[in-house]
Amino acid sequence: MLQCFRNCLRTSSLSTILLQYRILCPQLLVCLVHLHFGGFSSTATSITSYFLKMNLDGHVQDPENKEYSSVCVGREDNLKKSGRMTAVVHDREVVIFYHKGEYHAMDIRCYHSGGPLHLGDIEEFDGRPCIVCPWHKYKITLATGEGLYQSINPKDPSAKPKWCSKGIKQRIHTVTVDNGNIYVSLSNEPFKCDSDFYATGDFKVIRSSS
Ligand code: FES
Repeated sequence: MLQCFRNCLRTSSLSTILLQYRILCPQLLVCLVHLHFGGFSSTATSITSYFLKMNLDGHVQDPENKEYSSVCVGREDNLKKSGRMTAVVHDREVVIFYHKGEYHAMDIRCYHSGGPLHLGDIEEFDGRPCIVCPWHKYKITLATGEGLYQSINPKDPSAKPKWCSKGIKQRIHTVTVDNGNIYVSLSNEPFKCDSDFYATGDFKVIRSSS
């Protein structure tokens, strides 16, 4: 019966309606399911937990790998119009950019001192698109999260300043597009990245925009 109900949900507008209830009022969804399927039967309990595990787009998350499963964060057409958006993915705040036909996602807080990268300008340095942090103007490549800086050779005063990399400083996440929806999956690269400091632990700031 549960399998039959799942198949029905995939093909009918009922899933859309129940998902709306799940988003607006999970308690109301629980009551509706239990009323319809009879008290607190195991079927009603299974169906309820199935819904509570769903993403907003109706995909069911894998509880074994929840932290790195992709999460739907919005619509592709909206991101193309605005050029950027913010989202919380598994309790981590990220910014997603659309720039010159490509999508990029990274930790929202700058690795240097926690500046709000979603408020920065995008500029090119040495042919590499970068987000420029609005606080102290650090440059971070959109594609790789490298911090860029300029250097000159003091022994050669005629030399022009060159753009150099400090290495990966900002954690980059993966963006995919499916059926007009934007999905983000968090990086599970094992190295320690400077931006982790502001994305986790005591310094994590969620939904702050200044
Ligand atoms: S906080 Fe970003 S440059 Fe200082």
